[in-house]
Amino acid sequence: MAYTVPDLPYAYEALEPHISAETMRFHHDKHHQTYVDKANAALEDTRWAAEMAPEDLLTKLDEVPEAIRAAVTNNVGGHVNHSLFWESMSPDGGEPSGKLLNAIRETFRTVAIFNETIEAAAMSTFGSGWAWLVHDGTRVLIVTTTDQDSPLSDGLTPLLGVDVWEHAYYLDYNNRRADYVKAWLQVVDWEVVAQRYAAAPVPDVSEILERTVSISGKMVAFGTIDVDAARTQSSELGALAGWGPMAKVGSIARAWGELAKNLEGRGAATVADLDPGMIKKAAEDLWVIAPERGMI
Ligand SMILES: [Fe+2]
Repeated sequence: MAYTVPDLPYAYEALEPHISAETMRFHHDKHHQTYVDKANAALEDTRWAAEMAPEDLLTKLDEVPEAIRAAVTNNVGGHVNHSLFWESMSPDGGEPSGKLLNAIRETFRTVAIFNETIEAAAMSTFGSGWAWLVHDGTRVLIVTTTDQDSPLSDGLTPLLGVDVWEHAYYLDYNNRRADYVKAWLQVVDWEVVAQRYAAAPVPDVSEILERTVSISGKMVAFGTIDVDAARTQSSELGALAGWGPMAKVGSIARAWGELAKNLEGRGAATVADLDPGMIKKAAEDLWVIAPERGMI
């Protein structure tokens, strides 16, 4: 099946004054079409286009024959990135809410800091590329890619990507990329981003929830711990902090306090009711499981 450019989910002029109809026409009808044409040409007579979705192909670039790998990276990447891009915008704009807002606050503290960070990331991309909000399985974070590289190829789920190729903004903003990124953030469709967040793959924490932990001398499953138990642990361990042989006790006491705060903040009856990403992070901070090395 040859790839095709998806229709815009709104009119060309719908994003004005932030993005002009002229930019949308060139960007969608010409630039995206070129990626699709070149991707189809590179994949013609290969099994790749027939057997898998373009998003999946980007996770297996090392298996693609070397002769077409660069063309696939650039053009299937361009197709997937732009398909996501059109869907990420809406004339209605809005603000992140619900679980996505919680995740953004978890990483960036406030939406304002998130906005500043993605603007800075977009400005830091030298030449052509993208700045992304992604999900790494446990949390949201911002990354950049060059050319048409996709976060999917790094095992990350893209939630939102701002195109900082000049073709995305030059007609409207000339070389004022910062103004474009600020304007672009006004037309983000946060409903769509929230749906991507909800669908992003998360770690299987069932085994973590079954691990046993000693609470006031009694062994209980980690998943059954409630806010009172977490508070008790925090204060009991906090009282021991500074006692020579137990070097980690202060940080573990703080992690119990953090867990109690999260349980309360999320209205979760027990650890099992928290998001998988938060469960995994708490388990690592409390040494219920050994911490993995971070990706960045
Ligand atoms: Fe583009």
